[in-house]
Amino acid sequence: MALLEIKGLNTGYGDLRILRDISMEVNEGEIVALLGSNGAGKSTLMRTIVGLQRTWSGEVGMGGKSITNASSGTIVKSGISIVPEGRRLFAGMTVAENLEMGAYCNRKDIKHRIDKIFQDFPRLYERRNHLAGDLSGGEQQMCAVGRALMNEPRVLLIDEFSLGLAPTVVDALTEVVYEINRRGVSILIVEQDVQMVLEISSRAYVMEVGAITLSGDSKELLGNSKIKEAYLGLE
Ligand SMILES: Nc1ncnc2c1ncn2[C@@H]1O[C@H](COP(=O)(O)OP(=O)(O)OP(=O)(O)O)[C@@H](O)[C@H]1O
Ligand SMILES: [Mg+2]
Repeated sequence: MALLEIKGLNTGYGDLRILRDISMEVNEGEIVALLGSNGAGKSTLMRTIVGLQRTWSGEVGMGGKSITNASSGTIVKSGISIVPEGRRLFAGMTVAENLEMGAYCNRKDIKHRIDKIFQDFPRLYERRNHLAGDLSGGEQQMCAVGRALMNEPRVLLIDEFSLGLAPTVVDALTEVVYEINRRGVSILIVEQDVQMVLEISSRAYVMEVGAITLSGDSKELLGNSKIKEAYLGLE
């Protein structure tokens, strides 16, 4: 059984339908990539999964239970957490305060969880009293990941992982993603660097104008002529 399961999902803004019958799944322990050009609907899908956008029809299930149009609190408790596009840190708050904000749904043992994040991310510990707005791009992304981990998710959604970051920083963050995954967290990741994300994921879905048009094993998709042409600039 899939951990996160989406079936026939439709949603949009106002009268405008954006997502069209999206079905996809993330299994226990997987890293799954979500590809698609600008405006395809990737962020809309992620926002719908975490309850920031209402589902018109279709189902979102987590661990065998429906979380369709559930409250954000219920969705977080079901084990889903998001690193949103643009990171959305509280720029005027410190790193430690940002982590604390990540636990707004469950304040139990908050100190213990913050300490755990600091153990796993020594760089964040060093920067704990700095304002998030003063961090480098890579540190900000690490802080956003740490904040999402405060909820101890079973599935972590990451929207636009490497946007605006230098390649060496991306490499370091990729190791962080692997490590999180090794510890048993499944990952659904949106990333513009298609080559990189197909290398780090086991499966991928391709989205075009709100619909899934292609999906499969990431290594096979790396060799797919349509992917090469549309996303890798190869023919
Ligand atoms: N709040 C909103 N109100 C109206 N339309 C929106 C809103 N947010 C997104 N859209 C539209 O929905 C479509 C999908 O947008 P979305 O942000 O989900 O795409 P995306 O695949 O994440 O794109 P990108 O790669 O640029 O992040 C786009 O046409 C966008 O203009
Ligand atoms: Mg987006």
